[in-house]
Amino acid sequence: MKIMAGNSNLPLARAISAYLEMPLTDASVRRFADEEVFVEIHENVRGEDVFVVQSTAYPANDNLMELLICIDALRRASAKRITAVVPYFGYARQDRKPGPRTPISAKLVANLITQAGADRVLAVDLHAGQIQGFFDIPTDNLFAAPVMAADIQTRYGTQELMVVSPDVGGVVRARSLAKRLNNAPLAIVDKRRDRPGQSEVMNIIGDVKGRMCILIDDIIDSGGTLCNAAQALMDAGAAGVSAYITHGVLSGGAVARVSNSALKELVITDTIMPTEATAASDRIRVLTIAPLIGEAVRRIADESSVSSLFD
Ligand code: R5P
Repeated sequence: MKIMAGNSNLPLARAISAYLEMPLTDASVRRFADEEVFVEIHENVRGEDVFVVQSTAYPANDNLMELLICIDALRRASAKRITAVVPYFGYARQDRKPGPRTPISAKLVANLITQAGADRVLAVDLHAGQIQGFFDIPTDNLFAAPVMAADIQTRYGTQELMVVSPDVGGVVRARSLAKRLNNAPLAIVDKRRDRPGQSEVMNIIGDVKGRMCILIDDIIDSGGTLCNAAQALMDAGAAGVSAYITHGVLSGGAVARVSNSALKELVITDTIMPTEATAASDRIRVLTIAPLIGEAVRRIADESSVSSLFD
């Protein structure tokens, strides 16, 4: 087997290759003067089981194109099996038509990856589980929950915990984390706008008074959802609020918004390479999921069970 990397998250790719105790495949993924992507693989991959690590995070289109061109290069070099390891699957939020004459871009991206020549996909915390079904090739969706639960136990294990979903859509994810935390109780932030034009009211379903609240979500982008939820929880009497989010998209002024929020701490994983601002923030901590991905890659290569990683 071989591990190859695009440029979107080289530190994670290197950490995965260190876990597997094998070097990254010697390849260059670079740009021509006009910014077209060019990939050249400098070693033989004929007949190999190759894993290409590339998150389609910002700049999403460039990183997606790198992934597709890496897959094409591998296919034309006669790799036996190509697995697209996409720790952060961009465009995932466009997984349905929000209105007439709109695209389902997550499906289009899934088609592109398949058509480029991927035989399998490995992703982490897909925005919606159904996205697995957008691929007509085997797709493993890993969960960051075990890594998060271990960290929460270490940091907050002695406190009265409450796992909180920042919206109604995230309840399944929150319930599965709560289960890993000795069946901690669950609360939900329910955003309501009674009439158009009225400002949003945050209702908390569950009694969070005196509890250390752990907000859980798959993505933090602008930070609006999370920072508002943290404030609502503090207003409802929570003892403190920390957030565990798999994908730190953190666009625009999100890092500053988090720094000025009621959040005690934001914990993200390294599915997306942290920016300098993220790394410099004393309110944001990054957990690595390289061992989890590395172990899943090893099991796929050995054709052993991936799901048992989460038992
Ligand atoms: C939405 O369904 C997602 O799970 C996140 O809650 C959302 O993407 C967060 O976005 P933002 O940080 O911009 O509020």
